[in-house]
Amino acid sequence: MNVSNARRLLGALLFVPPLVAAVAIAAGLPPALELPKPKLDSAATLVSALKARKSAREFSPAPLPLQALSDLLWAADGMNRDDGRRTAPSAKNWQEIDVYAVLRDGAYVYDAKAHALRGVVAGDLRAATGVQDFVAAAPLNLVYVADFSRMSGASSGDRDLYAAADAAFVSQNVYLWCAASGLSTVVRGSVDRPALAKALGLRPDQRILLAQTVGMPK
Ligand SMILES: Cc1cc2nc3c(=O)[nH]c(=O)nc-3n(C[C@H](O)[C@H](O)[C@H](O)COP(=O)(O)O)c2cc1C
Repeated sequence: MNVSNARRLLGALLFVPPLVAAVAIAAGLPPALELPKPKLDSAATLVSALKARKSAREFSPAPLPLQALSDLLWAADGMNRDDGRRTAPSAKNWQEIDVYAVLRDGAYVYDAKAHALRGVVAGDLRAATGVQDFVAAAPLNLVYVADFSRMSGASSGDRDLYAAADAAFVSQNVYLWCAASGLSTVVRGSVDRPALAKALGLRPDQRILLAQTVGMPK
């Protein structure tokens, strides 16, 4: 396949215009991934989700359907109010937690306002998101990254405490959404943070807090 056909195919697969795909490929980034509107008509109740919530460490390698990815990201930390506030609370509404989505074809960061995934690094970084075997083959690993540059005025102690708490709220949203929609998940603190930060090209003032694997049950 020649380069222009590859760009057209990638653009079609990821729902982006060929020119955008071409620019992204040239820059070594995966193109932005437009997500379908979240479908929020689940019949599950909060009580049923709380009863089903659990950690699981076996995942089907099957990719998540785009609609499932869209719904999950909205539940994780999407915008749920017109003033830009989110499904997860954050100290002082700093909204400092970025949700990275590491998929087979590349790493993306979730843009809640646009409800889209922005390309960060092309290629398969899943194995770098953790130290446990299942992370390399599971379809999705989320990585919760605090951007300290958004936490103006916080002491370093408060910054670390609030960032960790805020990431945990996002993680619990994911746990409950997975429980409500039949997905498996586990949050993970065992991450080689320096190696993953390097792979994702993070700045020194961005801190990896937790990762979370998601997929269909095996
Ligand atoms: C902060 C935090 C870090 C965790 N890190 C890991 C981890 O690195 N690997 C893992 O397999 N599970 C990890 N877990 C999941 C716990 O082992 C799990 O929640 C616990 O065993 C209770 O099981 P449950 O979630 O099914 O109730 C972590 C949980 C939390 C809250």
